[in-house]
Amino acid sequence: MEKILVTGGAGFIGSNLVDKLVQKDCEVYVVDDLSMGKRSNLPRSEHVHFFQRSIIDFDFMEKLLVREQFEYIFLMAAVASVADTVVHPYSTHRVNQDADVFLLEVIRKNNLKPKKVLFTSSAAVYGDDPQLPKGEMSRINPLSPYAIDKYATERFVINYGKLYGINTVATRFFNVYGPKQNPKSPYSGVLSIIADCLSSGSPFNVFGDGEQTRDFVYIDDVVAALMLLIRSENTNGYVYNVATGISTDLNEVISIFEKVSEKKLTVVHKDPRKGDIKYSVADVTRLSNLGYEAMVPITVGLRRYWNFL
Ligand SMILES: NC(=O)c1ccc[n+]([C@@H]2O[C@H](COP(=O)([O-])OP(=O)(O)OC[C@H]3O[C@@H](n4cnc5c(N)ncnc54)[C@H](O)[C@@H]3O)[C@@H](O)[C@H]2O)c1
Repeated sequence: MEKILVTGGAGFIGSNLVDKLVQKDCEVYVVDDLSMGKRSNLPRSEHVHFFQRSIIDFDFMEKLLVREQFEYIFLMAAVASVADTVVHPYSTHRVNQDADVFLLEVIRKNNLKPKKVLFTSSAAVYGDDPQLPKGEMSRINPLSPYAIDKYATERFVINYGKLYGINTVATRFFNVYGPKQNPKSPYSGVLSIIADCLSSGSPFNVFGDGEQTRDFVYIDDVVAALMLLIRSENTNGYVYNVATGISTDLNEVISIFEKVSEKKLTVVHKDPRKGDIKYSVADVTRLSNLGYEAMVPITVGLRRYWNFL
């Protein structure tokens, strides 16, 4: 049985990944401080070993890595709220960067040999550069402490790989959505908010004309991409956009949601918000070259998400 570590494994993406790993008969170790995640997100299984600890508990993390000698390591724990990182830039930096660099250092110093270390970065690293679609070679412009830490950690992960012979890969997720999503997530928060407003009948604020776009990717497609990326040798030392390559604007999202819920949303138009990124869509050629294809169109994904809620 393969031993796998998932930090942040009780969160939205992590727990969906853990479900898949358990189905694949892996022995899964989850470290999560439950600051955002929930214990109940994790499957009840004797093959899931849960530790309610912070990844900045360096002593604990070092002992765990040395003792368990994981075959695969997913570095997913993070303060995933950009707004929180703006309010607490240093304490979030310790989680979003220091803790992961420390783990790389543990691997290096102890000469551990994981088959792959995967770090989850974000499309936030591209910032507000207007060039579209965003390819992995597009200009980087991290604007928040969150994005700066994500970008810097990507570089640490990739270059620890190159300098010290550790197999590493990083992903830049676009807007991931689906069951177990944290309603406070800044990425797909808009979907939760729309769903809430539809259920409660309260009005939904659209800032600007509603033509702002995002590349929404359904959680099952993300988990499939993660499995592909850790299994493939060719991915060592590379960063991959994880998205669909399709942009959907807010007006379209609202209309799909209205169809699946069979309810009418009360929309209130407000002025555009300063600092909001208007358009976003990924170039997913690099991931597609590995044989990846997003399977869940937004019409299907939103229906599944609504039914889950
Ligand atoms: N959801 C998205 O669309 C998206 C987009 C880009 C990047 N990401 C990245 O993907 C990863 C997973 O995101 P998510 O959407 O599942 O978010 P999430 O908040 O649901 O999951 C993150 C998990 O990390 C845990 N965590 C936070 N600080 C910790 C600490 N100090 N020690 C241990 N655990 C800690 C939280 O409790 C939570 O369970 C994060 O690294 C996030 O930055 C997500």
